[in-house]
Amino acid sequence: MIKENISIKNIVLKNRVIAAPIVTNSWDDNGSPTLDTLEIYKAYAESGAGLIVAEQHAVHTWGRVSLRQPSLYNDKSALELRPITKIFRDKNIPIVAQLNFGARATITKLLDDPNYKLVSPSGLPTPRKSPVDANSRALELIEIKEIIQSFADAARRAVEISKFSGGVQIYASHGYLISQFLSTLTNIRTDIYGGSLANRARLLFEIVEAVKAVVGNAPVSVRLGASDNMPNELENGLTLSESVWIAEELANMGIDWLSVSGNHCIYGIGVDDNDTAYFAPYSKAMRNAMYKYDIPVDCTGGIRSLETAEKLLKEKVCDLIGIGRPLLSDKSFLSGWNL
Ligand SMILES: Cc1cc2nc3c(=O)[nH]c(=O)nc-3n(C[C@H](O)[C@H](O)[C@H](O)COP(=O)(O)O)c2cc1C
Repeated sequence: MIKENISIKNIVLKNRVIAAPIVTNSWDDNGSPTLDTLEIYKAYAESGAGLIVAEQHAVHTWGRVSLRQPSLYNDKSALELRPITKIFRDKNIPIVAQLNFGARATITKLLDDPNYKLVSPSGLPTPRKSPVDANSRALELIEIKEIIQSFADAARRAVEISKFSGGVQIYASHGYLISQFLSTLTNIRTDIYGGSLANRARLLFEIVEAVKAVVGNAPVSVRLGASDNMPNELENGLTLSESVWIAEELANMGIDWLSVSGNHCIYGIGVDDNDTAYFAPYSKAMRNAMYKYDIPVDCTGGIRSLETAEKLLKEKVCDLIGIGRPLLSDKSFLSGWNL
């Protein structure tokens, strides 16, 4: 199963393993790649994974989470990513640019940058503590329009200038801006971007629509926060049934694959990740909903063995297996998987 190839729009993956996006902290203070960045991505290209999702790229100067991260908010930074995408083009392995608007800073130094502003849907703090304890300001309607446009511009640059061959992924999880909009814990707006589920998901839908309009044939995926709580917790905030509805709407809009993770519960920090596949219940629910649309779904989080990966595929929990931390720390992690 794991070696079975799968098509996502116009690309064919040689196996079912995805390298999940992980912030590498390898970029310089201007967000330019360093030799370390190139080494890290070369290792990903050698890892055996069939698809690489590169770490989050800021779409707007206000959307950064740190100084040392890649960005796509102007042509110059998009061009600087070419040496990375070339590594993957030479090996015929698709690589995806993940697009993010942080709205949660991870370093205080960023707050001193005059080109940065900490904004959010309603000026509320995120429920799982942010590394930087600072007050955000609620976005104006005109700024929301600007952010939607910044996702579209970044997506176009990722495909046309940086040459990401696997297209783009819109980051709608882990308590960042889009995921803050999805959740009643952080979105108490009374305009068309708050209140009902359709209103809370409006920002995500408008971003997907704007991105799809500019990327031509390149695949568009969404990394969706399935719930504000881990599978064993009581539901409070965004619920699984709400996110399944969002996923079906995204399917109707024509996204090409869906990545499943946590919303305000982030990616399962502190849970037992020793081959527990802790988000399997969420992936299974999404896969059940997406199957009729022929949209592949991944399961990521605490998958550590080939046996578990095969079992998840066989039991139709997911179509793709995401591996995060092990692949970043050990480039030979997949060597026993015979990919
Ligand atoms: C340090 C760190 C940085 C991360 N950065 C991102 C990111 O940029 N984008 C994203 O979608 N997920 C990010 N994640 C979450 C991972 O993609 C993945 O979901 C998580 O590590 C669980 O999978 P694993 O158990 O295989 O590591 C990050 C995780 C860690 C530990």
